[in-house]
Amino acid sequence: MDKELLTISYFSYKGGSGRSSLAYNTIPFLVEELNATPEHPLIIVDLDVDSAGLSFLLASDLLDKNDKIQYITTNDLVDLHKKNLFDEYEYIYAQHDSFSQMPLKRIFYPIGNAFGFEGVEGNEAILFIPANPKDNVSKFDESGNDRIEKFIEAMRNYNAAAIIFDMPSGDQLLGKIVMQECNKVVLCLRITYQHRMGTKEYLKRNLNSIEGITFIPVPNAVPQEKILINDRIVDFDVIKEDIRNSLTEVISNQTGNYCDFGMFDDGYFGVNEVQRFKFYEGILFRDVKKNLKLSDDEMKAYDAYQRVARIIAKD
Ligand SMILES: Nc1ncnc2c1ncn2[C@@H]1O[C@H](COP(=O)(O)OP(=O)(O)O)[C@@H](O)[C@H]1O
Ligand SMILES: [Mg+2]
Repeated sequence: MDKELLTISYFSYKGGSGRSSLAYNTIPFLVEELNATPEHPLIIVDLDVDSAGLSFLLASDLLDKNDKIQYITTNDLVDLHKKNLFDEYEYIYAQHDSFSQMPLKRIFYPIGNAFGFEGVEGNEAILFIPANPKDNVSKFDESGNDRIEKFIEAMRNYNAAAIIFDMPSGDQLLGKIVMQECNKVVLCLRITYQHRMGTKEYLKRNLNSIEGITFIPVPNAVPQEKILINDRIVDFDVIKEDIRNSLTEVISNQTGNYCDFGMFDDGYFGVNEVQRFKFYEGILFRDVKKNLKLSDDEMKAYDAYQRVARIIAKD
């Protein structure tokens, strides 16, 4: 049997956890780790159809156009009324010698240049399916399940390097269905109480119907300064161990799923807070490619993003 396609979702129970920013910053490192090329591209899907984020960061020029986008949007992918979508595209593919030569770049939006990769080669190494906030929000129910499966299968046949889903938060159905199809789930969370409890309870509720997933918890925007609560210094290690213990309890004791605590080991505690991201989300990898100087907090985060990508890419 062919090797399973690396299928990654960036999930969080709460919104604003940093799923999109983490995807945005780890994707270019994944291109390197997985040796993505136009023949072996990284496919990114903005699945957060009700609250799109990555689509604004990557394709706002495309989404601003009044005319109909010629590329597939996530709504096309999940919309029940567009059942024939893949039949149509199969027709296009059939005119080529083999399925693996289908002109994916004509249906998905090439986006590699935005991440700092150069030329046509670099651009087509990453293909994006945006969610168009101007489209009617898709109605997705259980019967749409097979469409996601079919899509993953098509990408596997195409020899994609990986598929990345930027997920809806919490208990939304689309997220649950897609998570079942993924082999790696990057579990984003802020370190506040509601994020920690919400994530733990979500997993408790849902893990019995899921197996075979490697969860990679990534605390995000972790503060670096000394913090006092009622005159006592907050001990970050206590919080870190609390997260590790509660996730171990719900994931590792569960048969068939695994939790990789790589972002808790070797002195790491997720991704640190980056001052500039409080104003503008950016891609640190691209800045380094452009020889721009990073500040200390940005360098620390750059290193953490690279580590996340390595954890995701490892077998
Ligand atoms: N490491 C970080 N440091 C500071 N702010 C961050 C960091 N990562 C993300 N943010 C900010 O948090 C906000 C929410 O992040 P986002 O990636 O949109 O979350 P989500 O996709 O989970 O809703 C964004 O405005 C972003 O700039
Ligand atoms: Mg988002």
